[in-house]
Amino acid sequence: MQRKDKKPKAKALRNMPQFKCGFRDAVASVQEKHVRDGTAKSSVLSFFSGCGGLDLGFIGGFSVLGTWYPKLPFEIIAAHDILQDAVDCYRLNLSDNIENTDLSKVSPELFPAADILIGGFPCQDFSSSGPKTGFDGSRGNLYKVLLGYMKSHRPRMVLGENVSYLAKLRNGLYLRTILEEFEAIGYHFDVWDLYAPDYGVPQSRRRLFLVGVRDDISGFPVKPCPVTAGHPVTISKALSDLEDIADERIPNQSQYFISSKATGGGGQGDNVNDPDKVSYCIRANARGRIQFHYKLDRRLTVRECARLQTFPDEFVFPFTTQRNLTLIGNAVPPVLGYHVAKAISDFLESVSGKSLSDSKSNIASMTLRREFAIQEELAL
Ligand SMILES: C[S@@+](CC[C@H](N)C(=O)[O-])C[C@H]1O[C@@H](n2cnc3c(N)ncnc32)[C@H](O)[C@@H]1O
Repeated sequence: MQRKDKKPKAKALRNMPQFKCGFRDAVASVQEKHVRDGTAKSSVLSFFSGCGGLDLGFIGGFSVLGTWYPKLPFEIIAAHDILQDAVDCYRLNLSDNIENTDLSKVSPELFPAADILIGGFPCQDFSSSGPKTGFDGSRGNLYKVLLGYMKSHRPRMVLGENVSYLAKLRNGLYLRTILEEFEAIGYHFDVWDLYAPDYGVPQSRRRLFLVGVRDDISGFPVKPCPVTAGHPVTISKALSDLEDIADERIPNQSQYFISSKATGGGGQGDNVNDPDKVSYCIRANARGRIQFHYKLDRRLTVRECARLQTFPDEFVFPFTTQRNLTLIGNAVPPVLGYHVAKAISDFLESVSGKSLSDSKSNIASMTLRREFAIQEELAL
């Protein structure tokens, strides 16, 4: 169909870059230098893994925007996602340990036992830009996949991740219900509401992390301290070196949606970014309405979106523009994931060898703190 202005309809560039290797091959030698020999590793099982944003945060050993994020003492023993693109991209960049699995259909006992379970359960039904169907939505009950595994294997710690609107929807009813179900089986949970620009991510993005510790383990991880609050990394700082590159010298920099001009879309697409601020949120379902570059007369490229999500440049995306952007927009920014994973690693190191009792007062204060976090979120 032709547009009213007779210009060709905006569509994804068709070129699919061919990548023989990804992050895992490109940085293997760099990583090895930084691994502390003999460090005891905690095993991690990853559900709803996507292309591996959160998982990369747990693995560590990558460099983004001039900062090195060292290896962390975690080993991802298995990862699962239902989307084949996610599985292929994860395999290309991180590990062969991922499988295409419909997690709603597999009995939890069939998964391996792990120290830590992580999973950003699907957020569409809890998102402010979705149908807000909550538990009635087709994916609104998938948090129960985490619950099933917890009952069956009793990992020491659990990390769930979702949109911050989960705390607001129906006045926090869905979030409270999920936490009550998790806690009823012998865990205590806190909710960390993290604003990504406070942690070195050059993008406006807020996410909830549901952090759970098994009741017999005393103490709790400390919420990561902001590192760039008040002085965030701006979009121009993050992307300026890409301004003159329009080809695949930097992977995925040739891929973007063609479009004539920005119209201003209230943060939901079509806006021009401000060079002196963090970028608008990178959305998974943008459907071509990716935000515009702060200086150039075009939308952001796949690589620029990946940078704003803090994927290292060695982490490559092998599909068309739309398919790549779905994976990128769905991901937890690896740098944000790293800060959460580091807090967990510090905690596990502090409890190793300690008595696993004396956790009752800890649980009581946790419940209070968590309620305070929900109230704060509602007040925003
Ligand atoms: C928010 S994304 C997770 C992104 C991931 N944490 C990351 O950082 O890259 C949610 C993922 O859940 C997956 N998913 C949805 N329903 C699923 C199911 N029934 N079984 C397995 N995975 C599912 C989606 O394909 C999507 O990749």
